[in-house]
Amino acid sequence: MTKGKVLIVDDDKLICWSLEQVLNKEGYDVTFVHLANDALSEIFKEPPDILLLDLLLPDLSGVEVLKRLKKKDYHIPVLVISAMATVDSAVQAMKLGAYDYISKPFNMDAVKLAIQKALEVDHLRSEVDYHRTRESRIYGFNNFVSGHSSIRELLRMARRVASSEAPTILIQGESGTGKDLLARVIHYQSKRANSPLVELNCTAVPETLLESELFGHEQGAFTDAKKMKRGLFEIANKGTILLEEIGEIPQPIQVKLLKVLEDRRLRRVGGLKNIAIDVRVIATTNRDLIAETKAGNFRTDLFYRLNVITLLIPPLRERKGDILLLTKYFLNRYNHQFHRNIKSLSKEAEKLLINYNWPGNIRQLKNVLERIMILEDTEELLPDHLPYEIQSYTGDEAHAQAFIKLPHIGLKLGEVEKNLINQALDYTEGNQVQAAKLLGISRDALRRKMIKFKLM
Ligand SMILES: Nc1ncnc2c1ncn2[C@@H]1O[C@H](COP(=O)(O)OP(=O)(O)OP(=O)(O)O)[C@@H](O)[C@H]1O
Ligand SMILES: [Mg+2]
Repeated sequence: MTKGKVLIVDDDKLICWSLEQVLNKEGYDVTFVHLANDALSEIFKEPPDILLLDLLLPDLSGVEVLKRLKKKDYHIPVLVISAMATVDSAVQAMKLGAYDYISKPFNMDAVKLAIQKALEVDHLRSEVDYHRTRESRIYGFNNFVSGHSSIRELLRMARRVASSEAPTILIQGESGTGKDLLARVIHYQSKRANSPLVELNCTAVPETLLESELFGHEQGAFTDAKKMKRGLFEIANKGTILLEEIGEIPQPIQVKLLKVLEDRRLRRVGGLKNIAIDVRVIATTNRDLIAETKAGNFRTDLFYRLNVITLLIPPLRERKGDILLLTKYFLNRYNHQFHRNIKSLSKEAEKLLINYNWPGNIRQLKNVLERIMILEDTEELLPDHLPYEIQSYTGDEAHAQAFIKLPHIGLKLGEVEKNLINQALDYTEGNQVQAAKLLGISRDALRRKMIKFKLM
């Protein structure tokens, strides 16, 4: 197998021949031409993996070749081979996207190494491109599923913020409401999408390491600092840094973070030089940061800095309509993923899902459904498939909704009662304590009714 196709463009025949020989031996597939126009038609016919380009050619300059390739959106790694006299044009070539330049006369090993490196970098670049394209598809606004008016409004605002210059965004919401998801959507739908998104959960790093993790350190800044290390802010330059659970950042780091946000530059730990950074900070929290500032745990100045644009995601229980929407969305997704075929939800299962208060929000709903998909081979999702805490949930809202409209022809109260008791016993697989809880009565009361209705 060839290591790749190399196209050499040089009017010096001797250079072409010697490069061809050496590179052939290395396992490359080599073609050479002596004119820029021939190079262009060769490239348009079948682009090589790498181009070795002389700048001084009889027909067009190498720089002109680069310009034309750029205009046509060709992303071929280019190694410029130039004589010393044309350093200026070599610089220009680099500006036009050439990967590296080698001055003539050159050493064959240097060329081999440069080709190898350029191909590696190109390979990495296409890998990164692939991931970025994929991510921006996964993290589109449409993937934040909701039919609720409050979320629609929130997403409208998030769209505006994403395309704005806003340097800081705060996302607040209970655990599992989709804060991370929204942050990623904002990044991938912003102008920063082609630069890195770097994520840090502020609780995951011990206080002593947090500063160096965020801002980097110079060699020898502290005992373990054997080498210089760039911090996440530097790595995220031109992109976005997502700081999860910002409420957990210790006070001394809060001060430093505020300074970096205000100055737009930082100093590595132990460093003296200021490094300019252009990073959007998206901070998330499931705490009430105002309360935290009042309690003295979170600095007010940092809070105001972060709070310029705040996106508040309401919990799932406050947008009950989304429960079934999300359920169907996840069932559909998992049907594909796990090769299952859950086509429907029984009415009772729907009711249980809606009545439940979902303290873990969408994450919890997603996990519940994923578990069912793995464990149950069924076409209809039934109450039995749901975890006990959902089957037996009797929150206030659940009771409030247990309102039965009296039919015109009347009904037999005893029958209704007996039927409900039967259902409760079914849900709990005969567990009387749990069934009584479901019905909001004591176990003794349940037993009396069971005797009365001859259920035991
Ligand atoms: N509206 C939504 N549509 C589709 N998936 C969602 C939605 N909201 C959340 N999810 C999914 O639910 C899971 C939890 O979301 P995420 O991790 O963003 O929550 P979080 O608010 O960051 O939670 P925590 O506070 O625990 O970090 C993720 O898998 C996410 O993709
Ligand atoms: Mg999160």
